[in-house]
Amino acid sequence: MDLPPPAGTGSGSRPVSTPDPELQGEPPAELATSLGAVGREGLQAAPGAPREPHDGSGRVNLSFTVAEGQDRDVRVPPGVSVFDSASWNGIAIDSTCGGHGTCHKCKVRLDPARNPTLPISRHERKTFTPGQLDDGWRLACLATATQDLQVEVPPLTTRPKAATVGVGRQVILRPAVQKRYVELDDPNLSDQRTDLVRLTEAIDDLEVTADLAVLRRLPKVLREADFKVTAVVVDEALIDVEPGDTRGQTYGIAFDLGTTTVVATLLDLETGTPVAVASRLNRQQPFGADVITRISATMLDAAALGRLQELAGETLDELAQQVCAEGGVEPERVYEVALAGNATMTALALGIDPEPLGVAPFVMSSAHPPTVLADDIGLHLHARARASVFPALGAYVGGDIVAGMLATGMDRDKRTRLFIDVGTNCEIVLSNGDTIVATAAPAGPAFEGGAIRCGMRAADGAVEVVRLDPDGGVELQVIGDTEARGLCGSGLVDAVSELVRVGLLDHSGRFLTDEAASSIAPKLADRLSAIGQERVFVLHRPTPASPPEECVYLSQRDVRELQFAKGAIATGWTLLLDELGLEASDLQQVLLAGSFGSYLSPASAVRIGLVPHLPVLRIVSAGNVAGEGAKMTLLSLRERAGATTLLEEVQYVELSDRPEFNDRFVELLAFPG
Ligand code: FES
Repeated sequence: MDLPPPAGTGSGSRPVSTPDPELQGEPPAELATSLGAVGREGLQAAPGAPREPHDGSGRVNLSFTVAEGQDRDVRVPPGVSVFDSASWNGIAIDSTCGGHGTCHKCKVRLDPARNPTLPISRHERKTFTPGQLDDGWRLACLATATQDLQVEVPPLTTRPKAATVGVGRQVILRPAVQKRYVELDDPNLSDQRTDLVRLTEAIDDLEVTADLAVLRRLPKVLREADFKVTAVVVDEALIDVEPGDTRGQTYGIAFDLGTTTVVATLLDLETGTPVAVASRLNRQQPFGADVITRISATMLDAAALGRLQELAGETLDELAQQVCAEGGVEPERVYEVALAGNATMTALALGIDPEPLGVAPFVMSSAHPPTVLADDIGLHLHARARASVFPALGAYVGGDIVAGMLATGMDRDKRTRLFIDVGTNCEIVLSNGDTIVATAAPAGPAFEGGAIRCGMRAADGAVEVVRLDPDGGVELQVIGDTEARGLCGSGLVDAVSELVRVGLLDHSGRFLTDEAASSIAPKLADRLSAIGQERVFVLHRPTPASPPEECVYLSQRDVRELQFAKGAIATGWTLLLDELGLEASDLQQVLLAGSFGSYLSPASAVRIGLVPHLPVLRIVSAGNVAGEGAKMTLLSLRERAGATTLLEEVQYVELSDRPEFNDRFVELLAFPG
């Protein structure tokens, strides 16, 4: 049977440039095998599904219609499946196989009148009638987003016993929060068991203990509710007794507590379904953009620690109230939160002195923070809700990275994989299937826009994608489809990568002279200018007469900042490869994680040498894996135990005491030839 025309022929799609044959590397048989394995992770088409080529650059926009009148737009790098694009953004799609293409439940409709025709896989032919396929029905985990798509998501039909989280990880639901509805016999003179015994005997599948706060409520609630109540248990603690049957209202919140951005996901703990997602800037920002400045603040002012703790609590609570309001959930029905953050953010949220984290030998107060009440960290949820805080590997490989390793299955996958969380402090993890090594590389603030002249965060007006055509065209994608105001991390990487590709930046990172530029790319050369003594390349000019300093531009110093950042990161992964006796070509998958890494164009990351020189299909955007790891521990006690086990399996490699560090760093500052 003939396949329908490949994606890319539909109208209304973003132009996609011709794949770079070198990077695209149409795979030989050996690579196809590894891609099959990649498919089982759920981020690429599963084995047997048609694969569409893409060049790993740019961004695609997916508009999800979830229920009548509820539209959500998300932007992801090309090559991510529709299923993962939805899951990263808290949009629930039916599934029981975890995105492996076998449960045939993740049905979505891509209206043919508004979408390009996507290829049809073997699994989809089994699932849908020819009429349904013509009507645009597809399986979300097999539909790869290589162009803008309009996706209709039907209401959930299953109440899954397992949920898909992380990078294609499927988690059997066994949350720490359990509810039991009981209808108890009234006490009488021949049955004078205590209220507590009467209750605990009725829920004998759980061993529970009750504290004074619950005992204070128990007599009244039992009698007012006619002895028909719901017991709320977290781990082994009876934290409340609620009148009537409140099963079906059991929620938790997973937090990714970042230095810059904090993300909260409200989860239905009975179905594993995300209910609402929200993010906001960390309110600690006025104390400094990075962990070192915040640690310094606590060293200079005795009151700063208390203030930073309060600000962390305010950030978390604002998000908690926001997701509850958006999800239509009473905050009192949230019984547990999970928190994944770097070691400094975790210490500050808990009010622990972070000073030893900022000075050699960089020691944490504890790798395993205790479980605390959510109220202790400023959250106004159920009064006895628990907060479970991720354990950390070290001062610079914190709970967020342990959560990321959990979400990506670094300890369970037998493939050789490299995980890079790109940020001010860049964490790098390498596994050969048996041994896992990790390190941290100080990349500096380039990716966050700090130290870049026109740098800004990934907000409206930020250039996020840059394409240069030596014949004169400069194509920019700007967040919010508004006028360009600056460059965010992915735009910076794209701009430098494109300038290297067209030859206006040489491999040492220096802009060409005007004469050399005119002969190589005459139509782009007039964008080279100078501000004072510094050479700049103008990306966006508000008016034809605008002087360079009023434009969005990339300066020579910006290029150097990016070189330092990528040099540090590349030194990190090359030394880890040495540690395990591997070559870059041995890598079967590279996962780019974090709020910067996930949005980098794989092709540009390869071209500037931020990641190893591999075909782009081996480089996968992993999304917000810290948040995904936090979700997993809320949904599964087994996964929570797995996070602790991970700490025993991972070996931390300190880079700064390596004699070869400096030479390797200098070598890797250049852009690959
Ligand atoms: S998630 Fe099971 S087939 Fe797509």
